[in-house]
Amino acid sequence: MKEATQQPGVAGATTPAGGARMKILVTGAAGFIGGQLCHALWQNGHTVMGLDNYSYGNADNVRFDDHDFTPDILKMDIRDMAGIAALFEQEKFDIVYNIAGIAPLPDCQSNPVEAVAVNTLGLVNLLENARRTGVKHIIQASTNAMYEGETVFPTVETSFAPPTLIYPNTKYCAERFCQSFADTYGMNITCLRFANVYGPHIDCLRKQPPFVGYMIRELYYGRTPQFHSDGNQRRDYIYVEDLIALAMRVWDRPGFDAVNVSSNTNYSVRELYAIASRLMHKDIPAEYCPPAHYWAKYPELYGGAYGIRPEILDHEVNKYSLCDNTHAKELYGWEPKVTIEEGLRRVIEAECAMLAGL
Ligand SMILES: NC(=O)c1ccc[n+]([C@@H]2O[C@H](COP(=O)([O-])OP(=O)(O)OC[C@H]3O[C@@H](n4cnc5c(N)ncnc54)[C@H](O)[C@@H]3O)[C@@H](O)[C@H]2O)c1
Repeated sequence: MKEATQQPGVAGATTPAGGARMKILVTGAAGFIGGQLCHALWQNGHTVMGLDNYSYGNADNVRFDDHDFTPDILKMDIRDMAGIAALFEQEKFDIVYNIAGIAPLPDCQSNPVEAVAVNTLGLVNLLENARRTGVKHIIQASTNAMYEGETVFPTVETSFAPPTLIYPNTKYCAERFCQSFADTYGMNITCLRFANVYGPHIDCLRKQPPFVGYMIRELYYGRTPQFHSDGNQRRDYIYVEDLIALAMRVWDRPGFDAVNVSSNTNYSVRELYAIASRLMHKDIPAEYCPPAHYWAKYPELYGGAYGIRPEILDHEVNKYSLCDNTHAKELYGWEPKVTIEEGLRRVIEAECAMLAGL
């Protein structure tokens, strides 16, 4: 296992947790969020180790102008019981961020056993080794997708209807185990419930790319994007840099906590498409498809003796999200800073440069 070179004293950097330099493990380090988290932690002078099984991530996510993390990422699966046990025993991490996970909803829905194995059991494997080796704080990448059944907005952390689909259930169960370990052993664990995250390195090439990455990709190539339903569905978005700023502020909080990482503002598909089109100087009317088209690349979900129920699909496609971020503001003195316009401008710049280099 190689260790990322340390970069102490970066101008303007603030070292959290009383200024102590921490030894930190980031799982899912080669992914969209994990890569940028590694970079930010390293810029703040911490010793950062990355781990990824590369099932989704790629090396481009960990190459930055001031540092290339590619040789420093350990290729390992968070489910590897012997490997993770040996790693924790050897490295004695102070902080562990579990950012690894199977994020695309349809991938989880079409392979539920794998989804539970990675998103839930993989996390439990980390928790148990963190317990044995004295990790000071564990931060789990959770999701506001677990609010899919909620009807009260803005949604607060403490009150919501349990989810239905596989992906949010894997994360919901993961949170239950986080609380179990915190309550049983007195461990410090924070579950960050991310809203829809966007930023440079968002994956626009995977089978079912996130909406922001897909929209920019289609505009870049001058193609007509296919959106689902009428485009008036509204979601809460958070810029990746704002998310990371909060993720680095939670280390001193004892016990268990679950925190919304959201802007408490939402935008419709049509609104975001209008902003992106203007910023990219494109004028391509979008095509709006029926909800059933949403997971067209996953026919297995519609087939079998029991296909996915149309009302569940409709609900997912038209889901409304708005997450209260008062808890994050009051307890951690955090607030999102990047406006949607500025955030999208940065993603467009990064994604177009990446696509131009393909
Ligand atoms: N992006 C979002 O909008 C969003 C919203 C809510 C929650 N999340 C959660 O945040 C985390 C990161 O999301 P992302 O958008 O960066 O996704 P991503 O797919 O870009 O990154 C996830 C990384 O985890 C790695 N990984 C998957 N299974 C693994 C395993 N078994 N062992 C080791 N590594 C493994 C992948 O290779 C990938 O590099 C995920 O857990 C996701 O569920 C993301």
